[in-house]
Amino acid sequence: MPVRSMSEALPETRALLAWYDDGRRDLPWRRTRDHYAVWVSEIMLQQTRVATVIPYYLAFLERFPTVLDLAAAEEDEILALWSGLGYYRRARQMLAAARQVATQGGVFPETSDDLRGLPGIGPYTAAAIASICSGEVIPVLDGNVERVLARRLAMDQDVKRATPRRRLQAEAAALLLPDRPGDSNQALMELGATVCTPRSPDCSRCPLEDGCLGRFDPDRYPSPKKKRKPVAVTRAVAVARNCGGDVLLFRRPDEDRLMAGLWELPQVDITRPNTPAGDVAHSLAEHYGGSWQVEPEVCQVRHGITHRSLTLCIHPARLQDRGLLAARSRSARDPCWVDWKTEKDRYATSSMVEKVLAAVDKIDS
Ligand code: ADE
Repeated sequence: MPVRSMSEALPETRALLAWYDDGRRDLPWRRTRDHYAVWVSEIMLQQTRVATVIPYYLAFLERFPTVLDLAAAEEDEILALWSGLGYYRRARQMLAAARQVATQGGVFPETSDDLRGLPGIGPYTAAAIASICSGEVIPVLDGNVERVLARRLAMDQDVKRATPRRRLQAEAAALLLPDRPGDSNQALMELGATVCTPRSPDCSRCPLEDGCLGRFDPDRYPSPKKKRKPVAVTRAVAVARNCGGDVLLFRRPDEDRLMAGLWELPQVDITRPNTPAGDVAHSLAEHYGGSWQVEPEVCQVRHGITHRSLTLCIHPARLQDRGLLAARSRSARDPCWVDWKTEKDRYATSSMVEKVLAAVDKIDS
């Protein structure tokens, strides 16, 4: 790759960096060059929006200011801090990576090659951290950058295929300013996040408009991904409270493929809404053990998770067999009564729990 300084940079690169310097968002992870902190931000930003990530990032770094603090943590505590961000595999891999760093001398890797040796760090994340924190001259190709460059080159091929990808890589490399690789990469990501957005790109505000071959018809590029239609699932969810008002949650087994180790409301798949309460009680007993008294459905809540669209049919319930809470249930799931108002931060849950309890509160009030 030819080495260029700012004065020799392509005019597009100069325009892009001037635009970034002028209006870049002041994000907490842009105030540091600490590899560990930037790694935390990059992992959280995968599949999650900036505004959602900010409070999680700040809380995480306050609790685990260094990679060694993280390495010494219990998984449950990390999952509880992660609660609501989704894609919990990311958090588990972070713990594994932190422990690997701890056993290898405690220094966080600084080059993209070394970074890729850690669990959960692929080419994109390694390039982002190394360019931002170490000044390594390596382009980043995340979803935002792919879209910006596919439009710039008017490429309507599938950007995940090898040949189009190589073209995008080459274009990303050409736009990179070696004096400031981290800022160059972040400028392209920022452009994709704020101007060259998936649905309503604002070409009049784009510093790369002049050389953009796709600017007359940006919606054509890149070709839309074929979306898998989500599978519709209907599920009965039991909201059981004890006399103190605490709600009953169960912990999913660690070996579950999805959402392992997360706390959830007791729930069973059903074939249709308004399933008779007795049938729901029977299924709950089969699944969780104990004996259940279940009321008819009081409301429905829609909830989307990866590739599935859930219709949750909410049933107030009582768990009559108190022995279940002392012993473990047949499916080896831990049950627990939780004061949701004061204790929820201590439990890693899917956002489904909050949604369902809010819907039930609305009916009760
Ligand atoms: N998306 C992921 N990382 C980013 C960063 N550092 N700047 C802008 N958008 C991002």
